Amino acid sequence: MNLIEKTDPNLARLISEEQKRQQNELNLIASENFASPVVLEVAGSVLTNKYAEGYPHGRYYGGCRWIDALEDLAKERANRLFGCEHSNVQPHSGSQANMAVYFALLDVGETMLAMDLSSGGHLTHGLPINFSGRFFKVISYGLDRKTQLIDYDKVRRLALDHKPKLIVAGASAYPRVIDFARFREIADEVGAYLMVDMAHIAGLVATGHHPSPVPYADVVTTTTHKTLRGPRGGMILCRKELGERIDRNIFPGIQGGPLMHIIAAKAAALGEALRPEFKRYSARIITNAQALADELLKLGFELVSGGTDTHLILVDLSTSGISGREAEEALDVAGITVNRNSVPFDSRGPKETSGIRLGTPALTTRGMGEEEMRTIAGLIKNVLSNIKDRTVLTEVRKQVYELCNRFPVY
Ligand SMILES: Cc1ncc(COP(=O)(O)O)c(C=O)c1O
Repeated sequence: MNLIEKTDPNLARLISEEQKRQQNELNLIASENFASPVVLEVAGSVLTNKYAEGYPHGRYYGGCRWIDALEDLAKERANRLFGCEHSNVQPHSGSQANMAVYFALLDVGETMLAMDLSSGGHLTHGLPINFSGRFFKVISYGLDRKTQLIDYDKVRRLALDHKPKLIVAGASAYPRVIDFARFREIADEVGAYLMVDMAHIAGLVATGHHPSPVPYADVVTTTTHKTLRGPRGGMILCRKELGERIDRNIFPGIQGGPLMHIIAAKAAALGEALRPEFKRYSARIITNAQALADELLKLGFELVSGGTDTHLILVDLSTSGISGREAEEALDVAGITVNRNSVPFDSRGPKETSGIRLGTPALTTRGMGEEEMRTIAGLIKNVLSNIKDRTVLTEVRKQVYELCNRFPVY
């Protein structure tokens, strides 16, 4: 930081302000985390200088001997952590991991079956203006209206009716365990590939706190920066037979040179995830989410599916008279960072929404536990009961600041 301060004070100030924001606010964004100091150091290393198009021991550039060893290490750790046969650690993001898999398994115009965005699916699962919706015919499945769980019978019916070549399981806003074995059965019945996008739950899968999709899916994609707590990026895991096809569709299919500093940081994070401390951390993410959910229920909030099995909670504000946007904005003023989110069968559009999504990975990383989760539920209640009252929001902001002070991020 010292060097930036000396040479580029404007930039230094912006980074420092963001660092303060991260320290002084409660981060309940379910898809974010705080990468370890080691991961940050590796991501900021000289590896950013190196071009290494291709794969280990088959590059299109000279000078790759250390780079090859490093990418081999990241792959070996990914394979060990998730018990898979083949991994590709080059995707720049989760979206690119998904794109490569679609291009590897489908021809343009072919059919895939994936979760509806408004039920918790991701943009890359078929939003019409996303590449997924533009290049492929996407049939969407959703949740059962009553249980708010994935309607597996409907998934099966849609699969039988539309004969997709690919079924996608996995979500951005689904708080319950996903039954990958059931998805496999459905895929087998119609002769489809099964891809699981475990971006949100990868850290929980790594430690056995969510069933693994690896034994069931043909291909698994993930991001590396959510519950897995690595640098921003993506990764693909698959059976050996599909490895070459997947690799070709990342490079040269949709990417050029890999980000070697990020691949090294992925190796660092995967190394951390292989340690016993990470297993304890992962368990605490869930107990914290459940403590937060229980307290929110006690305070009268409605939660989609009635609670959570994972790191994530969807609060349904439909009957509260405030929208997800209003809730997000009021909480932001009070120093509590969340994101607005559609709830199943939402009557409001995606810009307004009737819900907020909360997650515990980041707060758990900074050492908070169940007691703090109960306190935070109370703070959320106070804000959402007084969204127009600046005095209340300012008072909560003070309490947030004090709480954050007791749990330094770095
Ligand atoms: C389920 C799922 N898949 C893919 C992605 C895309 O990841 P990225 O933002 O790295 O492109 C996300 C990101 O939120 C996600 O939740």
